[in-house]
Amino acid sequence: MTRHIVTTDDDPAIRKVLQIMLRKEGYHVSSCQDGEELRNFLASEADSVDLILLDIKMPGLSGFEVLEIVQRTHPRIPIVMLTAFNDLDTGMKAIRMGAADYLAKPVRRETLVSCVERVIEKSDRKWDEEVRRNTFLSQQQKLERELQEALTTLHHATRATLEAFSETIEQKDAYTKGHCSRVRSISIAMGKALDLPEPLLQIIEGGSLLHDIGKIGIPEDILNKTTPLTDREMEIIKGHPESGERIVAPIEMFQAYRPIIRNHHERMDGSGYPDGLVGEMIPLEVRIVSLADAFDAMTTDRAYRPALPTEIAVEEIKSCSGSQFDPDLVNLFLDRELYSL
Ligand SMILES: [Fe+2]
Repeated sequence: MTRHIVTTDDDPAIRKVLQIMLRKEGYHVSSCQDGEELRNFLASEADSVDLILLDIKMPGLSGFEVLEIVQRTHPRIPIVMLTAFNDLDTGMKAIRMGAADYLAKPVRRETLVSCVERVIEKSDRKWDEEVRRNTFLSQQQKLERELQEALTTLHHATRATLEAFSETIEQKDAYTKGHCSRVRSISIAMGKALDLPEPLLQIIEGGSLLHDIGKIGIPEDILNKTTPLTDREMEIIKGHPESGERIVAPIEMFQAYRPIIRNHHERMDGSGYPDGLVGEMIPLEVRIVSLADAFDAMTTDRAYRPALPTEIAVEEIKSCSGSQFDPDLVNLFLDRELYSL
């Protein structure tokens, strides 16, 4: 590939000499007589230029001014400044300003050629690295986007699965229609009022939808019985938290919901089931769902009794504050009027 060098010098003799020396080495050479001409040239040809040789002392724009402009407008193109013989200070200033190198005039052919080769090679390396870095970054961004999309799909699939499960639970028991999704709404509202982090809110959401999954195994005639339950039947009903936990145990995506499924009938005073946990031994997310579950159960028709009016249910929640329910959550439930959701 023929490399393209642009020389810029107001002295036609120097332009000519540089052109001859570089063409001999196989370079394609263009020449400009001042900064203005170089600017115009770059406006249309910059993509083809590999290096600029730039005189410092020129009429019109000085070499330094041109250096500054070209660096701003075409940062990819390396610039080698041409200084007067032995003018080390000017050369160093050019380097400080971002020139790739400087050459003292009159330039010897070997010095010119080795400088041009070195600067072009360094510039190629720099831009190769830049391209590689950009490619890496855009690949990384693409992977992150794909991962995000996969997670969103998974999240939707998880939610759809949870809703399908809770629908199945509700279909077992005609009286609990909509119970799981109402427990979800109240629980999430409490979680948000407590400013709980998103992952915990997701656990509360899934757990509240699945909390009664163990009822799937209970015969419908027991679930829908309108007369008092026998001790045996009560025992079967009370087994639903443990059987729910057994149902989800082998399912990886439901692991986080196990405490809510197993312990949503625990009570603060330790008289609940199945583990008789006391106070804060019951995880916060479980205490939240317990309260929401109990409130919704009271305010909807059941096989064995009609729905309680909201005011009565609220009084019942208050009277069980501390014994059955977490008193802080009861206060929150009342203060935020979450009973009216
Ligand atoms: Fe339950």
